[in-house]
Amino acid sequence: MAEFSLPANSKISTAGKRFPAPAGAKNVRAFKIYRWNPDDGANPRYDTYELDLDETGPMVLDALIKIKSQVDSTLTFRRSCREGICGSCSMNIDGTNTLACTMAIADIKGEVRITPLPHMEVVKDLVPDFKHFYAQYASIKPWLQTVTPTPSGKERIQTVEERAKLDGLYECILCACCSTACPSYWWNSDKFLGPAILLQAYRWLADSRDEMTGERLDALEDPFRLYRCHTIMNCSNVCPKGLNPAKAIGEIKTMMMERAG
Ligand code: SF4
Ligand code: SF4
Ligand code: FES
Repeated sequence: MAEFSLPANSKISTAGKRFPAPAGAKNVRAFKIYRWNPDDGANPRYDTYELDLDETGPMVLDALIKIKSQVDSTLTFRRSCREGICGSCSMNIDGTNTLACTMAIADIKGEVRITPLPHMEVVKDLVPDFKHFYAQYASIKPWLQTVTPTPSGKERIQTVEERAKLDGLYECILCACCSTACPSYWWNSDKFLGPAILLQAYRWLADSRDEMTGERLDALEDPFRLYRCHTIMNCSNVCPKGLNPAKAIGEIKTMMMERAG
């Protein structure tokens, strides 16, 4: 599992606020949440919110939404689908990078500590800055590239077996839980693409319809972009969709070796 690690711009202050549970609450749980506002000049802090779990939905995202709507509207986080599809609500919960909407409060013991994804710049509170991550994604040209005309004039057919090679790859929701759990990415994210983007790169290398395999491999042939992966496996242990980026990276390395002869 990913070790707990603070975001890149953290100097935690001790002056956090505490929001007590409502009077009469019987099933109380504390949520200790990283707060940082770029506009107030203060250091980051942890605020603690006590909620009555009898009045809160089952997932960590339900608790965050309840806090924002009923306790403290200044708390900032991303979310959209609330069912593990959009990847927006990735954050570090109880020491592990995961999705707030699929993480059950009942599976966490004691106080629930929530911070942004580790080792990323923070925009505000639980919102990390994904600009660099998305630029890395764009760099691998994540779309079908062809040079020959479409054989049927309409579409490029795949066999069932060819299509099956994309299973375990197409499901990636680009939440960045894996990349921000990877020590190599922490220290070299300027040059190493990291597990999420490499899994996406392999998704196109594995696609039988794509005709730019050589060019795609050329673009990854570099001491950092691919080869900074040291098979530490944090990425595969942490993926909330159950995917295996380390295996995808291994497949790319095998393709590199095969073409080198
Ligand atoms: S491989 Fe998993 S953890 Fe990594 S970005 Fe994709 S869905 Fe998220
Ligand atoms: S296997 Fe590679 S990409 Fe995955 S966590 Fe380890 S070093 Fe990072
Ligand atoms: S809100 Fe979409 S993945 Fe959690």
